[in-house]
Amino acid sequence: MTENMTSSDLATQMIQVRNLHKSFTLHTQGGIELSVLSSTDLSVSTGECVALMGPSGAGKSTVLRCLYGNYLPQAGAILIRHKGHMINLVGAEPRNVLAIRRETLGYVSQFLRVIPRIPAIDLICEPLVTLGIDPKAAREKAAELLTRLRIPERHWALAPATFSGGEQQRINIARTMVVDYPVLLLDEPTASLDAENRHTVIDLILEARDRGAAIVGIFHDEEVRDAVCSAQHHVAVPSAQDGTQMNEMNSGDKQDLAG
Ligand SMILES: Nc1ncnc2c1ncn2[C@@H]1O[C@H](COP(=O)(O)OP(=O)(O)OP(=O)(O)O)[C@@H](O)[C@H]1O
Ligand SMILES: [Mg+2]
Repeated sequence: MTENMTSSDLATQMIQVRNLHKSFTLHTQGGIELSVLSSTDLSVSTGECVALMGPSGAGKSTVLRCLYGNYLPQAGAILIRHKGHMINLVGAEPRNVLAIRRETLGYVSQFLRVIPRIPAIDLICEPLVTLGIDPKAAREKAAELLTRLRIPERHWALAPATFSGGEQQRINIARTMVVDYPVLLLDEPTASLDAENRHTVIDLILEARDRGAAIVGIFHDEEVRDAVCSAQHHVAVPSAQDGTQMNEMNSGDKQDLAG
């Protein structure tokens, strides 16, 4: 290491967002064009956690959904390091987006999309088993996380449809944190949690940073943000002018990918 080198020089860039534009066409409301993101740039390296900041409606969740390949932007690039190569998610084949999600991208949405009749522990094992991990080892890892997140053992075999909001949020977190994803996208992961569980989630995020994960998150809770984040990125509220500019571009809404 040379004298002038800092630890960030040694970090590897994992996410690079360049000049991202995203608008929505409201087909059921007279085709109104709603511009949300214009010229968004973002860069995140291994071991960094960037907090997306901005008022409600600014487009923070939209940034995360674009990064997960749920929303297709009208312009710009989203480069994600996948198996050592920077791959552009924008315009990637759906099967390639799914492969990147399976191995590289972990996403904690604000609410669990409940899958009926699947026991909580199986929901958590599933991403590991998909990656070829032995089912017994997957179950042990899932049980360890369920214990850390204080889900009572009698709940493990139950489907989470009837769980409380906070319990569902913990299942959602466990399902992502069970895999050591190189990139994590976290949309208000502690919004419904009590103080003890909030601290467990802080620990899980810090452990992910320590193993080198690159993280982008939305954290309304200042205590959580201060504990886990290394930088902040302000998402600007779109101006009326952005809408006019977006009308001149093609809408990508039809190609948005579910996830
Ligand atoms: N699928 C969609 N179709 C139409 N408009 C959308 C869609 N998704 C988001 N928007 C609009 O984009 C804007 C930004 O929404 P987004 O959810 O990204 O905000 P946010 O910054 O995450 O806000 P909050 O802090 O309240 O969660 C909102 O005006 C919203 O109505
Ligand atoms: Mg949001």
